[in-house]
Amino acid sequence: MTFDKYMCLVLSAVSFILTIPHAAAYDPLDPNGNITLKWDVISWTSDGYVAVVTTNNFQMYRHIMSPGWTLGWVWAKKEVIWSMVGAQAVDQGDCSKFKGNIPHCCKKNPTVVDLLPGVPYNQQIANCCKAGVVASWGQDPSAAVSSFQLSVGRSGTSNKIVRLPKNFTLLGPGPGYTCSQAKIVRSTVFNSPDGRRKTQALMTWNVICTYSQLLASRYPTCCVSMSSFYNSTITPCPTCACGCRDKKKCIVSDSKLSSVVGTHTPTKDNTPLLQCTQHMCPIRVHWHVKTNYKQYWRVKITITNFNYQLNYTQWTLVVEHPNLNHITEVFSFVYKPLTPYQSKNDTGLFYGIKFYNDLLKEAGPEGNVQSELILEKNANTFTFKEGWGFPRKVYFNGDECMMPQPDEFPGLPNAAHTNLITVPKLALFWLLMFLALP
Ligand SMILES: *[C@@H]1O[C@H](CO)[C@@H](O)[C@H](O)[C@H]1NC(C)=O
Ligand SMILES: *[C@@H]1O[C@H](CO)[C@@H](O)[C@H](O)[C@H]1NC(C)=O
Ligand SMILES: *[C@@H]1O[C@H](CO)[C@@H](O)[C@H](O)[C@H]1NC(C)=O
Ligand SMILES: *[C@@H]1O[C@H](CO)[C@@H](O)[C@H](O)[C@H]1NC(C)=O
Ligand SMILES: *[C@@H]1O[C@H](CO)[C@@H](O)[C@H](O)[C@H]1NC(C)=O
Repeated sequence: MTFDKYMCLVLSAVSFILTIPHAAAYDPLDPNGNITLKWDVISWTSDGYVAVVTTNNFQMYRHIMSPGWTLGWVWAKKEVIWSMVGAQAVDQGDCSKFKGNIPHCCKKNPTVVDLLPGVPYNQQIANCCKAGVVASWGQDPSAAVSSFQLSVGRSGTSNKIVRLPKNFTLLGPGPGYTCSQAKIVRSTVFNSPDGRRKTQALMTWNVICTYSQLLASRYPTCCVSMSSFYNSTITPCPTCACGCRDKKKCIVSDSKLSSVVGTHTPTKDNTPLLQCTQHMCPIRVHWHVKTNYKQYWRVKITITNFNYQLNYTQWTLVVEHPNLNHITEVFSFVYKPLTPYQSKNDTGLFYGIKFYNDLLKEAGPEGNVQSELILEKNANTFTFKEGWGFPRKVYFNGDECMMPQPDEFPGLPNAAHTNLITVPKLALFWLLMFLALP
């Protein structure tokens, strides 16, 4: 067995282990990512308190997409919600014991959702009413927050008597998050708008929610395919990369679609309506090594939506590739380097330009977004050999995508490979340019 072949096997084994999604809620590309819920008690009432609940999304690239978050908890005692501003409990529950003033919600385990944009001003507070959509920290920290206010009754009216709500659950919008116990923390300090006075919450507690892809879904939700100018083979997504369980229901082609009733309305059990593919993923990310210049090389990225029932709003793409530390130009997408650790500068976040391509439309002719990147070669590391030009990891909307095995990455032609070493550099450049022509 040659050394190359041996390395290939080792790499396949390693990458196989790495493609198994992490069971623990720890993401090496976003080690501090979490969603923090903070309850600030801002006043006591005759039988309880008024609190502002603030949700901060500290995850670099996992946003909360439409139809938005759903937050639940279990009251520790017999609390009720008298009223809410900027959000609502979806179910009032049994308030039959109350006369006169009827609470907004009497359930032991209220479930709360954000209000829609455009509700009357008297139902709004700052950072509310975005239909539960929250940007990721990496995309837009100012939009990575969501707030509402609630007035709680029958809870007691002092720090000593109030009991913290329990068993928090967060859907964002699907499953995947696990929330900690509520914990009393140092009271939040608020600065007055002119910055000349500070006020303080009467009591503050917070809850930390972390994401695990394994909890979110049994199978990956996206896959990666590859091609290059130096090899006519297209490396497809792995077969059944996202599980083939929906294969019977899939749509063979766009033209067959009109015969399916209710395409635009989500199914009851929320299973996606997919175009039939060999990978059966709702999302495919294609990485094409497009052009070789003398000091630079060029990559084309295409993200394709195969789900007929979902528009991806504010989508994000994360790529890990050693040359991203020398990225020179990015067309049509916004790019931000992610540096989870000081020493690591090989990971980047891409997302769409507002009102241009931040919406990845449902499957069909318009169901894709594209970008091209120009990367500067680093003489010490750059090579087209052994699939170096392809990404190490790809995430779409915060979920890791299934990659082909490294031995299936488009390889340099063997014959040319030996010849290239003897061909002068300039000739090689023109040869590769020529090969890159459409
Ligand atoms: C949650 O995220 C914030 C911001 O990144 C970080 O400061 C905090 O330590 C995180 N908390 C946990 C428990 O991971
Ligand atoms: C709250 O969570 C704990 C631990 O997970 C569980 O034992 C308990 O039954 C839950 N309580 C309610 C009311 O859901
Ligand atoms: C996706 O967006 C388009 C245009 O905004 C809209 O016509 C279509 O109904 C949407 N599809 C779904 C499944 O929401
Ligand atoms: C990482 O790379 C980006 C893109 O080239 C650069 O702008 C940034 O300064 C680098 N950061 C570090 C910490 O090296
Ligand atoms: C293209 O790449 C594949 C996969 O690495 C390899 O098997 C094949 O030999 C390459 N094609 C040519 C023409 O070299």
